[in-house]
Amino acid sequence: MSRQLRVKAPWWSLLAFCLLFAPVRADVPGSNAVASAHPLATEAGLAVLAAGGNAFDAAVAVSAALAVVEPYGSGIGGGGFWLLHRASDGHQVMVDGRETAPLAATVDMYLDADGNVIPKASIDGALAAGIPGVPAALEHIASRYGRLPLALSLGPAIILAEQGFPIDDAYRRMAGFRLQALRASPGASAQFLVDGELPPSGHLLRQPQLAGTLRRIAREGAAGFYRGELAEQMVSGVRAAGGIWQLDDLAQYRVVEREPVVVSYRGHRIVSAALPSSGGIVLAQALHMLESRPVEALATASRVHVLAEMMRRAYADRARYLGDSDHVEVPRQRLLSRSHAYAQARGIDPHRATPSQALATPRAGGEDTTHFSILDRDGNRVAATLSVNYPFGAAFVVPGTGVLLNDEMDDFSAKPGAANAYGLVGNAANAIEPGKRMLSSMSPTFVEAPGRVTILGTPGGSRIISMVLLGILDAIAGYAPGDIVDRGRFHHQWLPDRIEVEPGTLDTHVIEQLRDMGHEVEVRDSRYGNMQVVQWRRFGGGVSAASDPRGIGAAAVEPAD
Ligand code: GLY
Repeated sequence: MSRQLRVKAPWWSLLAFCLLFAPVRADVPGSNAVASAHPLATEAGLAVLAAGGNAFDAAVAVSAALAVVEPYGSGIGGGGFWLLHRASDGHQVMVDGRETAPLAATVDMYLDADGNVIPKASIDGALAAGIPGVPAALEHIASRYGRLPLALSLGPAIILAEQGFPIDDAYRRMAGFRLQALRASPGASAQFLVDGELPPSGHLLRQPQLAGTLRRIAREGAAGFYRGELAEQMVSGVRAAGGIWQLDDLAQYRVVEREPVVVSYRGHRIVSAALPSSGGIVLAQALHMLESRPVEALATASRVHVLAEMMRRAYADRARYLGDSDHVEVPRQRLLSRSHAYAQARGIDPHRATPSQALATPRAGGEDTTHFSILDRDGNRVAATLSVNYPFGAAFVVPGTGVLLNDEMDDFSAKPGAANAYGLVGNAANAIEPGKRMLSSMSPTFVEAPGRVTILGTPGGSRIISMVLLGILDAIAGYAPGDIVDRGRFHHQWLPDRIEVEPGTLDTHVIEQLRDMGHEVEVRDSRYGNMQVVQWRRFGGGVSAASDPRGIGAAAVEPAD
C-alpha cells in the first residue's frame, strides 16, 4: 500500500521543481532594464548601470539626460517624484522634488483687478515658474541611495549638452507648439531655435550654457544651483523678466521624503505617489471602487461606463479636497478608506451617466512631462515622473544659465472653479500660498504581485492618473509591457463632463451605447501619453521592458555581466 503511494513524480513536476528552486535565482532579476521617453536617456541610464551604478544612480543619469534631450518634458528647472524601492531591505520611499511657490507668491497673483484669471500669466514667462526641485532631488538620490558620485552620473547629460544631439520630429512638434512663447524669451530662443525659427530635423542641438550649469552641479552639488553665483544670476534674470523669485526661495528649497500610498487590491500591492501628487489617492479610490464593483465580466460599453464613472468620482474628490498636505488639511484617511469608495461605487447607475455637476461643489496632453522606469540586476527599482509642466515649461530660459524654467504654478488653482491648462479645476486646498507645493497628477507606480513586479508611469497632465489606472489593471490582468504601453486609452476627469477616447480604442457601436447612457464621448484626433514599463517575472519570463509606441522613447534590458 505504502509502496503504491510512493508514486513516481511525473517528469514535469521535477522540471517545475528545478525551475522554481534550483537554477533560477528568483530573488534577483540578474538584468538591468531602463525604459524612458528618449533613446539617449535610456542609453545614459544603461551606461551608468554598466559602470557599476545601481538603479538610483541610473535614475540620476536618466533624469539629467532627459533634461537635455527632452527639454519639452522635464528639466533641471523643473520638479518631479521619484518612487524608489531598495532591494536590500525593501525600503520604499517617494522622493518629492516638486516645485514650491515663491515666498512672494500671493493667492490672487494670476488674477486681474476684476478677479478674472489673466490668460497665460501662469503659463508663459518667468512669473509662471515655481522654485525647481530637480537639482536637489538628484543630489539627494545620489548621496543617500546611489553607489556612484553625483558627478559621474551627471556625466552623460553633460556630454549631451556640450556635444549636442540631433533633434527629432517630436522636438520640432513641441517647439512648434510653443514657438511664440519661446521666441519671447531671448534665452529660450537662442537655446532652442535657430534665428528664431524651428531648427530642421536632424539639427545638432548644443546647449553649452546648460552644460556649464550641469558641470557646476557636478562640482558643487545642489548648493551650486541653490546658492552663490548661479542662484544670484537666476534670481536677477527672473526678476528682470517680471518674476518674483528671491535668493531665499532657492536657499530654502528642500526635498521631502514621503511615504508612498499603498493599496492592496485583489492580491496585489499597488505602490504609488503621495501628496502633493493626487495620483496615489485618486488611484486608491478607483481601485477600492473596483473592488466593490468588479468590471471584468461586463460587456465593453458597460465596463467603460463603470470605469469612467469611477474616474469621474475620484477626480471630483481630487478637485474638492486635494492640495499640499504640509499646508492644508486633507481628509486622507477618509479618501483612502474602503467605506468611502464603496459608497461612491454604490452611487453608480449601471445604465446611466451621472452628470458631473450632480457630484460635488467645485470643483477639479500627453507629450509634456516625462516618465522613466528602471530595474537593476539586484532588484532595486525606480519609477519617476518629472515635469516642467506645459511643453517647454514657461518657455523662459534664464539668460546665461541654460536653465529652462517650469510653469508649474499653473498646477495651482488660480481661482476656485477656473480650469488650468489641462481643464482641471480646484479649490482652496490647492490655492497658491508661499512655499506650498502645487497639486500634481504625476503617478509613478509599482504593481507588486507574488512573483511579478511591474514599474510604470506616464506623462499626460490630467490624464496621467486614468492612464496609470488602466496600466495597473492591465498589469494585474497579466499583460506584458509591450501590450500595457500599446493598449487604447479612455479618460474621464469629472470636468469637463465627457469621456475622452483614443482613436481606434472603442467600436462605433460601443460609443453609441455610451452615448445612449448619457455620456458625451469625444474621440480624440490623436493618441496620448508616453508610458514606460519595466516588468520582472521571477519564475519564467524574466525581465522585460517597453516604451510607448506613441513616443520616440526606448526600452532596453541588458543581462548583467
Ligand atoms: N505638471 C503636471 C503635473 O504635475 O501633474
